Amino acid sequence: MTFADLWRDLAPLGRDPVTGGYRRYSWTAADAQCRAWFTSQAEKRGLTVQPDANGNLWAWWGPPQPGAVATGSHLDSVPDGGGFDGALGVVTALAAVDLLKEENFYPERAIVLLTFTEEEGGRFGLPCLGSRLLTGAVDPQAARELTDDAGVTLAEAMASAGLDPALIGPDPALVGHLGVFVELHVEQGRALAPMGCAIGIAEGIWPHGRWRLDFTGQADHAGTARLGDRRDPMLAYAGTVLEARHAAASRHSVATFGKVIAEPGAANAVCSAVHAWLDARAADEVTLSETVTDIRSAAKRLSVEHGVTLGVREESYTPVVRFDEALRDRIAVVLAAAGMPAPVLPTGAGHDAGVLAARLPTAMLFVRNPTGVSHSPAEHADLSDCEAGVRALALVLRDLAGPQ
Ligand code: GLV
Ligand code: MN
Ligand code: MN
Repeated sequence: MTFADLWRDLAPLGRDPVTGGYRRYSWTAADAQCRAWFTSQAEKRGLTVQPDANGNLWAWWGPPQPGAVATGSHLDSVPDGGGFDGALGVVTALAAVDLLKEENFYPERAIVLLTFTEEEGGRFGLPCLGSRLLTGAVDPQAARELTDDAGVTLAEAMASAGLDPALIGPDPALVGHLGVFVELHVEQGRALAPMGCAIGIAEGIWPHGRWRLDFTGQADHAGTARLGDRRDPMLAYAGTVLEARHAAASRHSVATFGKVIAEPGAANAVCSAVHAWLDARAADEVTLSETVTDIRSAAKRLSVEHGVTLGVREESYTPVVRFDEALRDRIAVVLAAAGMPAPVLPTGAGHDAGVLAARLPTAMLFVRNPTGVSHSPAEHADLSDCEAGVRALALVLRDLAGPQ
């Protein structure tokens, strides 16, 4: 099966027919289809698939043992996400195994294909949940209690998918099997196109986090409540959105309110509460902290001004990540020798590779995205660049898992 065949096969799973975007949320029917698809493709290639207690899928080529060379990514999506974010790394890993087999390569160190659970935090709000649980970066009890928008806990969702949520948590023995992890991902940004390069290598990941802001006021009649009498949480929220933009723009950081819920949600009533999620990222942790501090102060000031109360809770925080320099240089040499110059790029996007980087040498490859658009149905990579990604990943796996 070529990359294009694999891609066509996976493409319909979890795609919304109206928006064309993906809704592959963890532990839903779409997620189960994606997992079944990956498992069957891996087994067709003779790999042994073993889910871990956190729901991450491990497909082994060669006996599991320390020093394994891991690759892969995730199959879950943001709401109406693009088809490439995560899926490209998983499909490319399968296609790279095919290419290596065609070349009669057999790994001296096991190669393991990983598919992580809930990388986006699209259902339970905590990004990289599967890799965080695996490596002990999140408390399992806190994770079990995470809820989706319908109030279903992670524990309930996992149980209904047939997993035992009591077993989630760190697995040092399994992590100890990993010698190195290389995640291939669609580029999120458009640095590669003007450089004329199909493939890039990650330098590091900006520190980032998510904060939930709850503005609580007083519901009232939209036609009869006088403006001066209102305690409207929407006003405090709306002002905060604009202040967030200023706080980020003045520091070259980014701040986004991409999710907001107004309660009770009547067109003819002042709302009683607004729940909003801030995603903020910056090149360094001091700048990120200053950005968020400014936004929190603005939210507080505006809440007082409009007579509403404010609650702020940090839902996740990911420190700055710098990928292993020796591994990065080694990959750059391998790709350059094959006529694939790969520039080194920073990214503002989070990845499971960033979580694993705290435990083992980790690297990332990016595949050119001509528009840079991501987390959107408009996300794209050309087939020829995806095929270059397969060649690049195969070269890297051959180098890392072959004779040293
Ligand atoms: C994941 O894609 C993130 O950066 O939020
Ligand atoms: Mn993403
Ligand atoms: Mn991703």
